[in-house]
Amino acid sequence: MRQIIYTSITTNPSGHADDDAVAITRQALLRNGLDGITGLLYTQDADFLQVIEGPDDSIADLLASLLSDPRHRDLRMLIDRDIEDREFGDWMMLHRERRETVDAFDRRLHGLLLNVSHETAGYFRALVPA
Ligand SMILES: Cc1cc2nc3c(=O)[nH]c(=O)nc-3n(C[C@H](O)[C@H](O)[C@H](O)COP(=O)(O)O)c2cc1C
Repeated sequence: MRQIIYTSITTNPSGHADDDAVAITRQALLRNGLDGITGLLYTQDADFLQVIEGPDDSIADLLASLLSDPRHRDLRMLIDRDIEDREFGDWMMLHRERRETVDAFDRRLHGLLLNVSHETAGYFRALVPA
């Protein structure tokens, strides 16, 4: 199984990554369910931070789609490694819902981060308000 964590920047003229997140999550739920991919999509201002975990073939295909997706740019790979078990649970693509406050989502996220490696948690802490 492969785990990828990357950041990218929205190309939406609004400058808010969140403006495309609902459409992206909807797409993700369809495809990820079929391909065994799980993960998390975090948005903060113009930034995306995404974790994807799943079978090598599925991740390679999704990565090709992500690299050519015009809704974001400057994809920066933070982690790309083999994993034994999923670190982020089995969400098909966890995302902060619009009606959920940042605080409530961050509490959920901090709960999740208790289970991940120190290195992985560090990337989130750099982006997510404490
Ligand atoms: C930040 C970001 C995250 C995305 N995450 C996913 C994802 O987890 N799963 C997914 O199927 N598509 C995701 N997409 C959409 C894919 O890039 C792509 O548009 C979609 O999977 C359809 O792929 P295709 O056009 O190659 O058929 C994401 C797009 C962006 C911009």
